[in-house]
Amino acid sequence: MSVALITGGGRGIGRGIALRLASDGHDIALVDLNAGPIESVAAEVREIGSKAATFVADVSDRDQVFAAVDHTYEALGGFDVMINNAGIAQVAPIDDVRPSDVKQIWGVNVDGVLWGIQAAAAKFMATGQTGKIINASSIAGHDGFAMLGVYSATKFAVRALTQAAAKEYAAHGITVNAYCPGVVGTDMWVTIDKRFAELTGAAEGETYDKFVGGITLGRAQTPEDVGAFVSYLAGPDSDYMTGQAVLIDGGLVFR
Ligand SMILES: NC(=O)c1ccc[n+]([C@@H]2O[C@H](COP(=O)([O-])OP(=O)(O)OC[C@H]3O[C@@H](n4cnc5c(N)ncnc54)[C@H](O)[C@@H]3O)[C@@H](O)[C@H]2O)c1
Repeated sequence: MSVALITGGGRGIGRGIALRLASDGHDIALVDLNAGPIESVAAEVREIGSKAATFVADVSDRDQVFAAVDHTYEALGGFDVMINNAGIAQVAPIDDVRPSDVKQIWGVNVDGVLWGIQAAAAKFMATGQTGKIINASSIAGHDGFAMLGVYSATKFAVRALTQAAAKEYAAHGITVNAYCPGVVGTDMWVTIDKRFAELTGAAEGETYDKFVGGITLGRAQTPEDVGAFVSYLAGPDSDYMTGQAVLIDGGLVFR
């Protein structure tokens, strides 16, 4: 039995990953800023038939991330897969970005992933086992998007950490990969769309529709689409893969 910890597991893509991995037979630890949403996803995980544990933590705080991993190990009797999914978006033209904005988004999207990598690797090495670390990058980790400059920079940084960590931990049997979704209709996109509307005068929904219109497969992505790929990254079929940040976006950014 494998145990997977998912940060930002209270909604959106994190919830989609949790439900898919539970269906695959993993037990699930859910970490997020507030108890309510992760308790509700934990109930869904238990309905599927897997064990679930929850832990409230802010991923930008290193000690809290280490505590979340320890809690997972104790509550579920193991720890095998770390999914550094929590992230936030910011929409602003580069001219408007201020130090406090950079500090906030960097703290969650980059520091949060770094602490998650460290905490997971430390636990895998302490228990003498192999493990899988999976990070959330984005199409914006492959292309810098207008109005999403700093967000894109954080997602490029996630790719860099993924590559470096893969090289550093390979000798310990730890693989590190990232998933790069495209346009997933979560609360994050509701916020992005509203901010674009404020900044550009676009109607609400217009920016989302424009992005979705560019997708080769002709529809927005769902959290289940992301969950299906993370299922592969979390399972034995991806054992020979490390250091990769793979686009799973319906054909939007081509590499
Ligand atoms: N939605 C998309 O189109 C899309 C595309 C590419 C990549 N991503 C990435 O996928 C991940 C999940 O995105 P989503 O769309 O589900 O977002 P979302 O906003 O719907 O959910 C994010 C979750 O992370 C939690 N969270 C935020 N800050 C946190 C913190 N400091 N500590 C702990 N938890 C925190 C939130 O409370 C929320 O439950 C993010 O890293 C995002 O950048 C999303």
